[in-house]
Amino acid sequence: MKQPIRRIAISTGGGDAPGLNAVISSVVWAAANRGWECVGIRDGFNGILSPQHYPRGGTELLSRDRVRGIAHLGGTILGTTNKGDPFHFPVRQADGSLVEVDRSGEILDYFKREGIDALVIAGGDGTLTIGNELHRRGLRVVGVPKTIDNDLDKTHTTFGFDTAVSFATECLDRLHSTAESHQRVMVVEMMGRYAGWIALHAGISGGAHAILMPEIPYDIEKVAAAIRERDAHGRLYSLVVVAEGARAQQGQRALLASAEAGHAERLGGIGEQVARELAERTGKDARVVVLGHLLRGGSPTTFDRLAAKRFGTAAVRALDEGHSGVMVALSHPNVIYVPLTEVAGRMKAVPPDSDTLQTGRDLGICFGD
Ligand code: F6P
Repeated sequence: MKQPIRRIAISTGGGDAPGLNAVISSVVWAAANRGWECVGIRDGFNGILSPQHYPRGGTELLSRDRVRGIAHLGGTILGTTNKGDPFHFPVRQADGSLVEVDRSGEILDYFKREGIDALVIAGGDGTLTIGNELHRRGLRVVGVPKTIDNDLDKTHTTFGFDTAVSFATECLDRLHSTAESHQRVMVVEMMGRYAGWIALHAGISGGAHAILMPEIPYDIEKVAAAIRERDAHGRLYSLVVVAEGARAQQGQRALLASAEAGHAERLGGIGEQVARELAERTGKDARVVVLGHLLRGGSPTTFDRLAAKRFGTAAVRALDEGHSGVMVALSHPNVIYVPLTEVAGRMKAVPPDSDTLQTGRDLGICFGD
């Protein structure tokens, strides 16, 4: 029989997403209501691995008072990083190069030393893969699915996605009038990594005329033809949504930076490319708007706030019920537990038979194929 829980820790890893603070506060409250203490780890696991960078401590005991009134705020009071995987921790060498070192043993030692019985870890597939590995090495772990990209498997949705889509949709609403006034092509690049969820949902909701996403490599001539066709019918402007991970049928993904030790590649720049080619092929004026990190900011929508609170409290319930190595997930209408092994290292792309995709096709939106 496992020893009873008295103390848990919480960590937020990867890119931030609206709703993280709601997860943190609900974990702290649900734990405190069971008589458990909750320790917050700063910047993923960096608070433990690099304590010298934190003059006021790399970890913090989180009281109810500390987390009062934060649930509606964007970001994470604990900080986060996408460069701190303890299994592949980047360490700079004397010659300036970076090598990856396995420092996971230090995390396990810390938990033992501090009498911390379990970990709640909120993150995307990278962070949940870390959670799964820590679980395999004997730590009690429950994951919480976070990412604006919505690309995590085994959950209907992640928190952060609805906020990102809502903001992107509002941006498209605003761009219609200026695009129409100037009779321009407006290309809007959106985050989402290797999945087109944000582009697809915002593009349809915001009335885009073309949506280019990683799941459907595009032929730029088809997009240009769709714009010319609109022009021929007197609709002299077009909105083109491009997911950052989209690529042409014969082309490559646009990168801002290649992968390096401890850090994945950075996507970006496809919007410029698409705008340039569409201007050339249609003879129209084209402009680019890159929504970038704006999609990660702001207050979580009601949907995300509620999902985050449901996930946070469910994570504590899961631990209380003796679960470990699971992620809390939304399986409408309930929160369920799914094994971390079924989530770690996997990505959920928009399926070809998605009815949302079909909705776009039935509305006459061009997908470049
Ligand atoms: O995974 C969330 C996300 O915002 C992706 O959509 C994007 O590609 C990436 O993170 C950007 O990360 P960074 O914060 O390193 O720019």
